[in-house]
Amino acid sequence: MSLRLGDTAPDFTANSTAGKINLYEYLGDGWGILFSHPADYTPVCTTELGTAAKLKGEFEKRNVKMIALSVDGIDSHHGWVKDINETQQTEVNYPIIADEDRKVAELYDMIHPNANEKLTVRSVFIIGPDKKIKLTITYPASTGRNFNELLRVIDSLQLTADYSVATPANWKHGEDVVIAPAISNEEIPAKFPKGHKEIKPYLRTTPQPNID
Ligand code: BEZ
Repeated sequence: MSLRLGDTAPDFTANSTAGKINLYEYLGDGWGILFSHPADYTPVCTTELGTAAKLKGEFEKRNVKMIALSVDGIDSHHGWVKDINETQQTEVNYPIIADEDRKVAELYDMIHPNANEKLTVRSVFIIGPDKKIKLTITYPASTGRNFNELLRVIDSLQLTADYSVATPANWKHGEDVVIAPAISNEEIPAKFPKGHKEIKPYLRTTPQPNID
C-alpha cells in the first residue's frame, strides 16, 4: 500500500555512494528528503541531481538531510556522479542509494507499474524529525522537479511545526502567513506579537513569525 501523510517513514539500510546507510541513523533527529530517479545516465535526472547538489546549503540551513535513490548499481552511480559533476558544474554531496534489488523502491511504492514496470517514478518524501511523512509528491519521469518549490514546502512545514501557522497559496518566504484555525482570537496577541489582520473570522493573517 502506498505511504500517506502522517505514516511512519519505513526505515531501511542500503548501499549508497556514501557507503552503507541506515535511514534513521542518517537523519538523526533532523528532517529528511528522499527522492527517487528513474535511472542513471538519463538527462533529466542528471540536471536534477546537479541542482539538488547546488542547493545542499539551503537544505542544511533548514536541518534537512538529502538522500537520492536510483535502481541502478553502485558502480554505475559512481560513474554517473562524475558526469553530473562535470556537466552540472557541481559536486554531488549527498548519498545516492543503489537500489538494484528495488527493496527501498518497493517499501516506498516508488514503482508505478502502469507508468513503467521496472523504473521508479520521481517520488519525493519529506520526513519530519518524528520520522513521519510530511509530504509526498510524484512526478512523471519526463518532468524534472522544482527543488526551490521543495525548499518552499519545507519552510512552510517548519513554520507550521514551530508556530501554529499555515501558508496561503503561492506563499513565499517573508510574506504573511495564516493563523491556524485552532488558535482562538484570545490567544493571538501572546502568540503573534507582530499583530494580525482579520479578513474573515476564519481567515486571519500575521507577519511571518520567524523573521525580523
Ligand atoms: C530522464 O531522467 O531524463 C528520463 C528518465 C526516464 C524517462 C524519461 C526521462
